[in-house]
Amino acid sequence: MKINQSNIKKAKKYLNKNYCIGVPTETVYGLAANAYANLAVKRIFSLKQRPKNNPLIVHYLDINSLQKDCLINDDFIKLYKKFSPGPITYILKLKQNSKISKYVTNKKKSLAVRFPKHQIFRNLLRQLNYPLAAPSANISTRLSAVEATDVKEEFGSKIKYILDGGKSSIGLESTIISLTNKPTILRLGSLSVSRIKKVLGKKIILNLNPKKKITPGQSLLHYSPGIPLRMNVKYPKTNEAFLLIKKRKISLDNYFYLSKKNNLNEAAKNLYSSLRKIKKKGYKSISVERIKNIGIGQSINDKLKRASKFKISNQIKNLNFK
Ligand code: TXA
Ligand code: MG
Repeated sequence: MKINQSNIKKAKKYLNKNYCIGVPTETVYGLAANAYANLAVKRIFSLKQRPKNNPLIVHYLDINSLQKDCLINDDFIKLYKKFSPGPITYILKLKQNSKISKYVTNKKKSLAVRFPKHQIFRNLLRQLNYPLAAPSANISTRLSAVEATDVKEEFGSKIKYILDGGKSSIGLESTIISLTNKPTILRLGSLSVSRIKKVLGKKIILNLNPKKKITPGQSLLHYSPGIPLRMNVKYPKTNEAFLLIKKRKISLDNYFYLSKKNNLNEAAKNLYSSLRKIKKKGYKSISVERIKNIGIGQSINDKLKRASKFKISNQIKNLNFK
């Protein structure tokens, strides 16, 4: 996609005034604001209706800009060289004199950092003298946004501006690894655990559903299309949307394809947009064909499993009798 400098200028103008804007990344769209400014960061939490104790990811252009705020270590350097910019988020120790707003981390001593690859986002970061805090651009617990129109759907006129960078090329959130102690994966994402392990050359701990939640994204009710979802389904019920990964001989109105060739990368890219489409068409439930649990397929299944925790009782709780 071509970079339109007048759009970047507009984005910069809003960010400098401490407003939040929508930004494209290769994983999902972000809701971005100045990570050094308390007011800007508070606005992110209020727009997203996000609990204050759920810290944000801060996006940097490169390691030089990061070093003002965080302590780095050997594991970080190995992974950074291989995978950044790209779909991996590192949890590092915050420096005592860092300028990061205390609202970003909820006063924690660690910070989640990422170096996005999307050229529009990188171009924007080059023109700012602060990093951008940016959680996924969706209301808390709902589906992430992979296109500018999805962001518009989530926040409407409540946000000032959305930088349109086309559809996110990967379509799933970044993989999160904590490096403050022994390397620990906290969230599965677009980069597979085996690739990370190969580069580090040592054991990595997987801590995706701990009793004590370290990452609120680990909470089981997450990434929800807002209607019940079943996994590993062979035959859908009548009136149920059926999400498929392999082409069927017959085509029916309720069939939706993540991929027609059992291609897991394509499926990841189409996951959130397919769920959004199904919801918009008014289906009351979704069934999903079995997806191979390898590589990025493992991350797709993790998201689907969390989405499947949605119960009708949640819908009833959310009803407002006014
Ligand atoms: O691909 C992505 O990572 C996208 C794009 C926009 O960069 N961002 C994203 O942000 O998914 P968000 O806020 O939706 O998810 C960030 C997760 C949250 O579950 C949060 O709890 C966790 O990162 N997190 C942030 N700071 C943390 C910290 N210091 N320790 C542990 N977990 C942390
Ligand atoms: Mg999110």
